[in-house]
Amino acid sequence: MTETHVEAQSVYPPAPEFAANANATEALYEQAEADRLAFWAEQANRLAWDTPFTDVLDWSDAPFAKWFVGGKLNVAYNCVDRHVEAGNGDRVAIHWVGEPVDDARSITYAELKDEVCRAANTLADLGLRSGDRVAIYMPMVPEAIIAMLACARLGAMHSVVFAGFSASALKARIEDAQAKLVITSDGQYRRGAAVSLKEGVDEAIAGLGDDSPVEHVLVVRRTGIDTPWTDGRDKWWDETVPNASTEHTPEAFDSEHPLFLLYTSGTTGKPKGIMHTSGGYLTQSSYTHHNVFDIKPETDVYWCTADIGWVTGHTYIVYGPLSNGVTQVVYEGTPASPNEHRHFEIIEKYGVSIYYTAPTLVRTFMKWGRQIPAEHDLSSLRLLGSVGEPINPEAWRWYRMAFGADKTPIVDTWWQTETGAIMISPLPGVTECKPGSAMRPLPGISAKIVDDDGNELAPQPDHGEHVTGYLVLDKPWPSMLRGIWGDDERFKETYWSRFAEQGWYFAGDGARYGTDGEIWVLGRIDDVMNISGHRISTAEVESALVGHSGVAEAAVVGATDEHTGQAICAFVILKSSAHGGEKNMVDELRAEVAREISPIAKPREIHVVPELPKTRSGKIMRRLLRDVAEGRELGDTSTLVDPSVFEAIRASK
Ligand code: WT7
Repeated sequence: MTETHVEAQSVYPPAPEFAANANATEALYEQAEADRLAFWAEQANRLAWDTPFTDVLDWSDAPFAKWFVGGKLNVAYNCVDRHVEAGNGDRVAIHWVGEPVDDARSITYAELKDEVCRAANTLADLGLRSGDRVAIYMPMVPEAIIAMLACARLGAMHSVVFAGFSASALKARIEDAQAKLVITSDGQYRRGAAVSLKEGVDEAIAGLGDDSPVEHVLVVRRTGIDTPWTDGRDKWWDETVPNASTEHTPEAFDSEHPLFLLYTSGTTGKPKGIMHTSGGYLTQSSYTHHNVFDIKPETDVYWCTADIGWVTGHTYIVYGPLSNGVTQVVYEGTPASPNEHRHFEIIEKYGVSIYYTAPTLVRTFMKWGRQIPAEHDLSSLRLLGSVGEPINPEAWRWYRMAFGADKTPIVDTWWQTETGAIMISPLPGVTECKPGSAMRPLPGISAKIVDDDGNELAPQPDHGEHVTGYLVLDKPWPSMLRGIWGDDERFKETYWSRFAEQGWYFAGDGARYGTDGEIWVLGRIDDVMNISGHRISTAEVESALVGHSGVAEAAVVGATDEHTGQAICAFVILKSSAHGGEKNMVDELRAEVAREISPIAKPREIHVVPELPKTRSGKIMRRLLRDVAEGRELGDTSTLVDPSVFEAIRASK
């Protein structure tokens, strides 16, 4: 037996001291099991409702759910005012740490309330009304969070677009949502340098031409760099918001009032506007944050390293932590700025007790070496979290060792943009963890692993060949997406058609049960790739590639990558008219993808090939391209039109 073999089987029970003080105990499972809806009603009642709900769930119009029917609340009030009214206005809500060293600012809940009210008044002055859409394209500055909360306060929907996305990605999102307002900054810091963000906004709006829905652009002065300006349309944040009143009465909105849109990649090139609503989303965000991260608002300092451009930032930087009134760190920059010590210095300086990050970053820290964390006092840490992709057992153990002195629990949390909040995860004071497994659905959540026909899979031993099943959610949950913006058909087709007969939700992950019935998520089984925890569809990259005049056809696959989980491999056929040499063309295409989507979507490799492997019905056989990309023996080629294409593809590698 090899060492990894032995270790792979070891189980990590919670430390007795941790279990003794944990927010969640075994009783939570029993309670949820006994009466699921009563359980969710109790969780919803952790929030402040202006009008109590009369029914917990209306599933009569499935798959369109209504949770906490008849209830009314204001989400921003729940995240901010409530804590001030409870006497906790002096507690720090956000320790903000800028990328430039020594650029930092701490904001109490009372200050946050004033800022959110000012911003809400400013947005209302700019004509924003309940139900309107606002695009937020910003770096990780406090104003981004304030802007989101101001929208929530007014009942307007925010659509946060990751500031690493290109102008053309921003344009598509503004257009689809018909956003009236864009909130942005002059620029952002990227590894020490200030780069423009506002230019991208102008380019996006210009691209929309006369049909642009954008009435105003509100611009935070972050870097002070030169900024193009359109008088009348553009307003500086620092010339409007600080002048607005700190008095703003929050209006209570229906529990099903839309809260936000967040665009995510699907299996086609067009991103989907995932829609979340108020009461159910906030209930599950708050409940999972409290129990999975064992939040003690009086003493904890929590840090989630995500960006607000992704759902993790929405749920576990904005709505979960703030609804629970905890103190958190928000960091603007990258982990290596100005050097690899940055995260550890922040943990040490602020006494971070809960740290939530992605496996790709853990693997980066591993690569940088054990001596870096070892130089810092990390003893404040008491809980670690992981999200975004399966965490390999080796990284799991290293994370616990290097960050957690081999003592802290790790919660490996499985969820999606569509699920809104954590679904499958250990409870840190209860679960005996197996490194690499997200373990079990949380109390109140139901998930199953099934075969093609919907039969539940049996537990499988740790070793040998595994049968992969479909991970399905067989009961509705409060923070579930309520639809795809403007496309009910696509919503039904994408998530509810695979197991339509059973009425189950399927969003693309393969999984298996382990020996004790725990869940091992194996990754996407559709055409969506996971690059360092970022979701990018093969179709999106393909459409960026074929958008180039020199490309005739393109096929993209995600190949296993030691650092990023998966890496993008593209195979392209060039038009005979394309010239300038293959090498130049490859560089140009990589730049094109960065421009069209984002630098994170840049293919690791692009192979120029004479032909692509296709089935008789013309479908590209990505499975075989993945074999090629990963240097494996080819799988079954019998359905190919012309198996010999692989000789040529191999030769081009
Ligand atoms: C996809 C969702 C959830 C917020 C960040 C990503 C993968 C996520 C895990 C995990 C294994 C995971 C899945 C999922 N994923 N967390 N703990 N273990 N896989 O949100 O962009 O909507 O992506 O990320 O494949 O479907 P997202």
